[in-house]
Amino acid sequence: MNLNEHITKVSNVLVIGCGGAGLRSAIEIKKAGLDVYILGKRPKNDAHTVLAAGGINAALGNIDKEDSWQQHFLDTYLEGYKIADPDKIEIMAKEAPVLVKEIDDWGANFAKLKNDELDQRFFGAHKFRRTCYSGDFTGLSILKTLLKKADDLKIPIYDNQYVTELLIKENVCFGAMSFNTESSKRTIHLADAVILCTGGHTRIWKKSSSRAKENTGDGYYLALKAGCQLIDMEMVQFHPSGMVFPEEMEGTLVTEAVRGEGGKLININGERFMKNYDPKRMELSTRDKVAIANYTEIIEARGTKNGGVFLDISHKSREFIIDKIPKIYTQFKESQKLDISKSPMEVAPTAHYSMGGIYVNPSDLSTSVKGLFAAGEVAGGLHGANRLGGNSLAEILIFGKRAGIASIIFSKKLTKKFSSSESVNLAHENINKFLKYGKHFAKPLQNELRMVMWEYCGVIKNKDLLTKGLEKIKTIKTKLKDIDTRKNKSNFEDLVSTFDLQSSLISAEATIISAIERKESRGAHQRSDFPKINNSLDFNLVISLDSHKENLIISKLPLKKLKSNLKNIISNSNIEESSKRDVKLKNKLLE
Ligand code: FUM
Repeated sequence: MNLNEHITKVSNVLVIGCGGAGLRSAIEIKKAGLDVYILGKRPKNDAHTVLAAGGINAALGNIDKEDSWQQHFLDTYLEGYKIADPDKIEIMAKEAPVLVKEIDDWGANFAKLKNDELDQRFFGAHKFRRTCYSGDFTGLSILKTLLKKADDLKIPIYDNQYVTELLIKENVCFGAMSFNTESSKRTIHLADAVILCTGGHTRIWKKSSSRAKENTGDGYYLALKAGCQLIDMEMVQFHPSGMVFPEEMEGTLVTEAVRGEGGKLININGERFMKNYDPKRMELSTRDKVAIANYTEIIEARGTKNGGVFLDISHKSREFIIDKIPKIYTQFKESQKLDISKSPMEVAPTAHYSMGGIYVNPSDLSTSVKGLFAAGEVAGGLHGANRLGGNSLAEILIFGKRAGIASIIFSKKLTKKFSSSESVNLAHENINKFLKYGKHFAKPLQNELRMVMWEYCGVIKNKDLLTKGLEKIKTIKTKLKDIDTRKNKSNFEDLVSTFDLQSSLISAEATIISAIERKESRGAHQRSDFPKINNSLDFNLVISLDSHKENLIISKLPLKKLKSNLKNIISNSNIEESSKRDVKLKNKLLE
């Protein structure tokens, strides 16, 4: 058999990733009459978006009339510790109301008030009730709605397609190589423009709210190799509440909606401990603060014997719980035989969201490679050092749509179709090089990497841990060169694991190098050797590959300046009522 056999498919735009961002961009492209199709490495009905539980933010002011896009901007910017891209936040805050109503009109069926407006719940650190929702399965509602729309528009979606390489010539992206994870058949996808919507990398931590084979950093690998930069990779969000047991459920998300609907965090001594960390906002503090609080209680021996803290909503009625958080009710009933309307849950921090990612222009989601766009979790810039819950579902709709529009414009302006047999041959070679016997197997190495990331680059880090972690990653990386990827009938599973491992390793390295470089504690990035925020370290960290495409290089980027309208929002804000940190931050921002 000729290994380099492939079929070729052609479209105006290729979308890689079949979650919310990918679907929303493809819908926009198809509506404009262009050819588009989507590749997903997993089944389309089960993209990671289904796990986004508690809601989607839009400053609609349906309950709290004072809410505004300006306040949504302010909450997101300040709680991101001012390293996010302010222009990207402005776009999200302004456009969320329209796109949230649109997805509801398309069939997402969010909870409604008596006057038929969308209901809005509290989520941590939002000043007002801003989070629209479908019970605790908002991501699932959104994904189903987008899939139905894509189906109505007859957008082809190809499952089980593993993209191994972006095809690049003269810094222009003209397509991608994929193999079918079941049949191994390879396809060269030629396109005027490519949109990456491949999610993040939080599955590379042992305790993670992602499932196997998702969020393994594939998009970061593809983008770096294509010539893009990654930004703020050290900013990894640990969600305060993941399940603690049974083992196979460890890390599974326990939605913030539990706290939004009144859940209390309690330690083994019966103390509602958030009063020691954020007495004003208590359980509705920011995710970074609640995660650190839970982690501290656990490591200082005030946790449960299973290694968690209690999250209690049993003061609410069973009917209320089943109405507001039905999935969580069933999740605990089925996996632990626990009735959460009678007893508290046990929870602990879990790696949840990659806040850094591919460096993009916020308005059109373009990368530094022409014809290549990135949207959703794979792209950086929106969340800074701490993501507010509910902003990511808004992000996928808003920036998915914008990436779609930008790719249409790019495709229409294109005067010459690019192609390069050299790039295609190289893409084959990069698969073929793995198809051999070897000393090591990918799956155990993946497990080893997950342990390394949890132990050496976890909730609280320091130089010593990070340096040791980096060494361990480099050791695993050398083993990748001697990997065993069998050419028997099931070898495509092996190949998936090998490519996942390759992407995970480069994502892990980028994360640790950035974490070493950021010598302070800011938001989700907590270092015991630099326990405070250092405002002289106001920069973004940028990672790229060297010219040999072998080593990662890191550089600092000055923060983007605030436009005058955004500066005004900050100067007019009444944040004195907030914590001292916010006031200091305000002064610093206005300097
Ligand atoms: O806790 C949650 O429901 C997660 C929401 C989010 O990450 O936005």
